[in-house]
Amino acid sequence: MAKNSSCFLFVSVALLLLFVGPATAKAQNAVVPVGNVIHVSQQQNDIHIKTTNAFVRIKLYHPGIIQVQISREDSATDFSYAVVGKPDTEKGLFTMSQNSQDIILKADSLTMQIQKNPFRIAFLTTDNQVINEDEQGLGVSWIGPKVTNYKKMQPGERFIGLGEKTGNLDRKGAAYTNWNEDHFGYSVTQDPLYATIPFFMGIQKGHCYGIFLDNSYQTDFNFGASNDRFASFGARGGVLNYYFFYKNSPAGILKDYTWLTGRMPMPPLWSLGYQQNRYSYYPQTEVMRIAHTLREKRIPADGITLDIHYMQDYKLFTWNKQRFPDPVQMNEALKALGFKTTVIVDPGIKKEQGYPAYESGKKADIFLKYNDGTPYTAEVWPGWCNFPDFTSEKGRDWWQEQVKFFADSKVDGIWNDMNEISTWGQQMPDNILYNYDNHPTTNMEGHNVFGLEMTRASYLGAVKHMKKRPFILTRSGYAGLQRYTAIWTGDNRSEDDHMLAGVRLLNSLGLSGVSFTGMDVGGFTGNPSTDLYIRWMELGAFIPYFRNHTTFNTKAAEPWTFGEEALGIVRNYINLRYQLLPYIYSSFYRSTQDGMPFMRSLAISYPNDAKVYDPQFQNQFLSGPAFMVAPVESGKDFLKVYLPKGQWYNMYNDLLLEGDTERVTELSLQQLPIYIKAGSIIPMQSLIQSTAELPSDTLKIHLYKGQEANSFVYYEDDGSSFDYQKGDFYKRTIRYNPTDHTLSFDKVEGSFQSKFKQIALYLHGFEKMNTLQLNGQSLAVNTTEFSFSADNAPSAALAIANGPEVTPGSTFPKSTVQLVEFPNGAGHIALEFRGRG
Ligand code: GLC
Repeated sequence: MAKNSSCFLFVSVALLLLFVGPATAKAQNAVVPVGNVIHVSQQQNDIHIKTTNAFVRIKLYHPGIIQVQISREDSATDFSYAVVGKPDTEKGLFTMSQNSQDIILKADSLTMQIQKNPFRIAFLTTDNQVINEDEQGLGVSWIGPKVTNYKKMQPGERFIGLGEKTGNLDRKGAAYTNWNEDHFGYSVTQDPLYATIPFFMGIQKGHCYGIFLDNSYQTDFNFGASNDRFASFGARGGVLNYYFFYKNSPAGILKDYTWLTGRMPMPPLWSLGYQQNRYSYYPQTEVMRIAHTLREKRIPADGITLDIHYMQDYKLFTWNKQRFPDPVQMNEALKALGFKTTVIVDPGIKKEQGYPAYESGKKADIFLKYNDGTPYTAEVWPGWCNFPDFTSEKGRDWWQEQVKFFADSKVDGIWNDMNEISTWGQQMPDNILYNYDNHPTTNMEGHNVFGLEMTRASYLGAVKHMKKRPFILTRSGYAGLQRYTAIWTGDNRSEDDHMLAGVRLLNSLGLSGVSFTGMDVGGFTGNPSTDLYIRWMELGAFIPYFRNHTTFNTKAAEPWTFGEEALGIVRNYINLRYQLLPYIYSSFYRSTQDGMPFMRSLAISYPNDAKVYDPQFQNQFLSGPAFMVAPVESGKDFLKVYLPKGQWYNMYNDLLLEGDTERVTELSLQQLPIYIKAGSIIPMQSLIQSTAELPSDTLKIHLYKGQEANSFVYYEDDGSSFDYQKGDFYKRTIRYNPTDHTLSFDKVEGSFQSKFKQIALYLHGFEKMNTLQLNGQSLAVNTTEFSFSADNAPSAALAIANGPEVTPGSTFPKSTVQLVEFPNGAGHIALEFRGRG
């Protein structure tokens, strides 16, 4: 009886599967798996696989990069807004073999094992250790058009990156959505925010890999949120198109990821100076008052930004002539004071008969439309607007021509805002059509690249009409945005946890290929306390794009508006940033070469150190290769800091500290905890008030004694033109070798004449040395004392100098040697230190 009934049950389940199963598999509410491998073929570096329910194309794209495309129809695509690296075409990048169970692809650095029944992918090291693998039970599947790849969560696996995302450095246990959205005064857990970069790195058992899901539909990532089984990524439509990177270090993966999606061009030097913002400075006399006050109070600054009130009724490409009677004269006057002007632009073109931008946009037929052919109209600052389709060439060309308006107005920077697109109501309809560069699609696929393509048009238009490097800033974007623009993290709040969340947002952007990043220092909404303002501005000196900004109904937030003490402290840090510009500029040069961000999460250098992911230390970061900054919330007396392995110097007193330690530091408002990595080579210059001013002709090189060899690529060019792309730069590698106690300067590359004629060498931690030779000749050593002073008296510069800026009791003897020639051309400099240490 029992046997019979179980037999009956089996028959009914089989019948159910036969009749109901396949029927539901076609329905929207079924999970359709990728199925079994049916057919495999190889074409050069591509493998084509047909499975029961899908088509797969695997491309050995470049050494260490594999592209995987999986779709229901045979629709692999080579079109992308993010990817600029071209696939290698040479044959023999891998070997393929197969048996009844698996297909094996062997490339230089990794092996791909593709299980046939069911189709599953595993990425292995050449000695068969798992780097990353599909979850055996779940693999890849669809629900309707939504596709998801479930990867097995490896024991102890961590996940970092994913662009502008809130949350912890280690994203394990969290899930994220990519859909560009505007959130005024967002919370520190808000997701999604303004920009989409579907790229993350995974770290497990010493292996490090990257995955970039290049799909501009809404994408979803789950790093073990609400489950103990998988890390998944997927898209609400289109092809599951991902690139797998394997290089065994975050730096190597970032290099490859930015090879694929492009690197930033050299920024204009002035954009690395301090930028003064407010929503909004007007009229013209107020803008000039701000500029003059910065100069009178000796606060170095390079930029003034004009927010939406410079426009007539918020209409793009207009000036409000009552507020700004003579913009050209104002911008020239600002230039004479050493300032550059950046103006805000929004994508909405006011729908108004006779308004030139609207009329010409209509005539050129560049506005986004619904599927019935009528323009998409939505409300934003100027009222009802139409929006250029930046995914069409004619839309971008039209915008480029409009940008001439700013070049004619003597503007140097374009700040692209509201380009998610943000409109009142914040709900863009799906049935808006995009040209998508002749791959017509709807808002579902076009939305996330709108901001990126707007910045592309702004960048190209500015280059064309300004005829020099422009500064471009954006709020929205997609992977690859670094090729055109810097990005800032939108409308944060004047609160401690926003300052710390901002640090993590910038660190995460840096882990996602974007080096030039900023946040509203001081906070956009609300009023910071004086302590918070000071802490945030101290930090601001060490982030890539340093702008102070606040919204329209808050108290003033310029550095002099929080009292004399605050002004003194803030000015010290801005002064330090200006003295560090040779170091900062050279570090940005590095970003242009290998994608290493200026602001670096400690996970880049110490990926396998659990402490750097500890929530109490996760906000620490490296500013360039040398400075480790520990952000501090307001009102704290002590901070626990983690020093990773190696040796570190306290920046303020040169005290040498052993790494791999946690230290409780007593805090003072005048000093943000900053540590310098032993072995660092830091080029600095004399204090200037803006980059329009030339520093003295002495390059100050600070060398921190270390135990390991180190090098720094010093880079200089004219800071504004594109001549560097034709070889007009000055570049030389400076090498420190602790074994034979030498500092040597490689041959100069490039045709640019350095603005520096001599070097002053500042030696830190070399007390036991007593003789110094230059190319074998003894040099007189001029011993003096100096330190990074944190004296907040307004007249004291936070500077390394020969001067007396010494905090009593906290300095150590150091040596300075002056007047070493810094020659152009092939001159060789090798400095050798002799002594006991
Ligand atoms: C948006 C921007 C903000 C700007 C404001 C007015 O909220 O994010 O920075 O000040 O618009 O243009």
